[in-house]
Amino acid sequence: MTRLSNFSFLLCVLSLAWLAGAQIELAKNSSARMTFATLNYRENSQCDTLKTACRAQNSTHNGIIFPSATPCSCCQTCVENLRLGDDCSVGGLGYPVPAGICGPGLYCKVAEGDEHPTCQPMLESSKCFTAQKEYDDQREAGLIGHLMQRPECDGDGNFQPVRCIPGQTCFCVDEEGNRIFGEAVHTANIQISMRCECSRLAAKARKLLNSQYPVLSARCDSKGSYDQLQCVNDMCVCVDMHTGQPTSDLRNVTKGVSILPCFDKRLHENFTYLRDCENVKLAQIYDIVEFTDNDFNVLEFDRDVCQPDGFYDRIQLHPTGGYQYCSDKDGAMIENFQAPLNTRLAATMNCKCAKARKLLLDSKSLEVPECCPNGNYKSLACRRGECYCVDEDGGQVGIERPEKDKQKLPCYNGGDYCPLG
Ligand SMILES: *[C@@H]1O[C@H](CO)[C@@H](O)[C@H](O)[C@H]1NC(C)=O
Ligand SMILES: *[C@@H]1O[C@H](CO)[C@@H](O)[C@H](O)[C@H]1NC(C)=O
Ligand SMILES: *[C@@H]1O[C@H](CO)[C@@H](O)[C@H](O)[C@H]1NC(C)=O
Ligand SMILES: *[C@@H]1O[C@H](CO)[C@@H](O)[C@H](O)[C@H]1NC(C)=O
Repeated sequence: MTRLSNFSFLLCVLSLAWLAGAQIELAKNSSARMTFATLNYRENSQCDTLKTACRAQNSTHNGIIFPSATPCSCCQTCVENLRLGDDCSVGGLGYPVPAGICGPGLYCKVAEGDEHPTCQPMLESSKCFTAQKEYDDQREAGLIGHLMQRPECDGDGNFQPVRCIPGQTCFCVDEEGNRIFGEAVHTANIQISMRCECSRLAAKARKLLNSQYPVLSARCDSKGSYDQLQCVNDMCVCVDMHTGQPTSDLRNVTKGVSILPCFDKRLHENFTYLRDCENVKLAQIYDIVEFTDNDFNVLEFDRDVCQPDGFYDRIQLHPTGGYQYCSDKDGAMIENFQAPLNTRLAATMNCKCAKARKLLLDSKSLEVPECCPNGNYKSLACRRGECYCVDEDGGQVGIERPEKDKQKLPCYNGGDYCPLG
């Protein structure tokens, strides 16, 4: 460490794990704020005061709080929710972090002529409503298969947070329908327990901050909800799994974490909050700060090794450097799903099938998908005598055909359903 002492650096890194809601809530409690102030690096350095919108969080002034896009993310930054008719920026990769984004139910509409883009209601023009309409048109035309499901939108025109592949798994998607962290076996009532709030916050932080460094945000559980025990350095608090709001007082880990209502003796005995992967990631962040101080480029670190639940991400590079592999949460290879570096198998690798397959095998499901050697879904699947094309998440695309006619499917590809090595 060159510029920061190890200790203050650790405080700084860990304090950003503090989630937006918890921080606001705790700041309201002056005795808690005293404790928190001693923990928070922000108090010892010159960070700008958080914008009014993020401090107010009322019906007219509100926003999303993120760690700032600095190597150690010491300070916080506020992205304000813009209102109907406000000027907005379409942004994109390489743009600075926007000061505001269109609030719930609004999108940044590029006007005709050279007028500024403004926030307008999504409604009919939203991606989700458009996807529904496309689905309905295809159904009219007889192009919808048995396992295809109509996209589900919320009242604002956003995608609902969970998409399910019938009989297999359900996973989290962002407001625009893109897959994000969080997956569970498909059961009848899954949507009650799985709402992906934490996962959506983590995905927003990654996207909006457009950071070249790994970003730490609140710890999620495997289904994309908040981990009910959140800790910053020595201090822990219980939070609501769906809102992330604190449900208990702050406790010092060394004295008294066991009296927190969310403390689980089986899970937290011999308590160390940080998971293996989180320790690896923190070590990387230390290195980044050191390299940046010495003006080195830090491109190698642009991939986050961990998922938002603090376990290993699904694709890992083998330390010998010869190949990458599909990883379970502890960093071990799933079955034998791997791909040599610099091949097409590696370039297209997503391990989505390998992960779903492991979840389904672990839960003793009867039907498990077959995967490509690199852990991707095969582009053609057969089930109960019928075959159909699948997308990269294992979802059916188009109508099914009897197994004997499978060569008529558009994804048949001469019988090759996987990327070639
Ligand atoms: C504020 O913090 C104190 C001390 O930690 C605690 O006793 C009190 O219940 C807290 N109040 C609220 C509203 O959380
Ligand atoms: C919301 O907070 C802002 C800033 O503190 C204040 O000006 C405004 O009046 C508040 N609005 C409501 C509806 O409480
Ligand atoms: C937590 O308790 C330990 C042991 O009493 C103490 O050394 C440490 O400073 C406390 N941490 C905080 C942040 O209060
Ligand atoms: C926890 O620590 C105690 C004492 O150090 C040890 O005997 C026990 O096996 C540990 N338990 C686990 C689950 O690691």
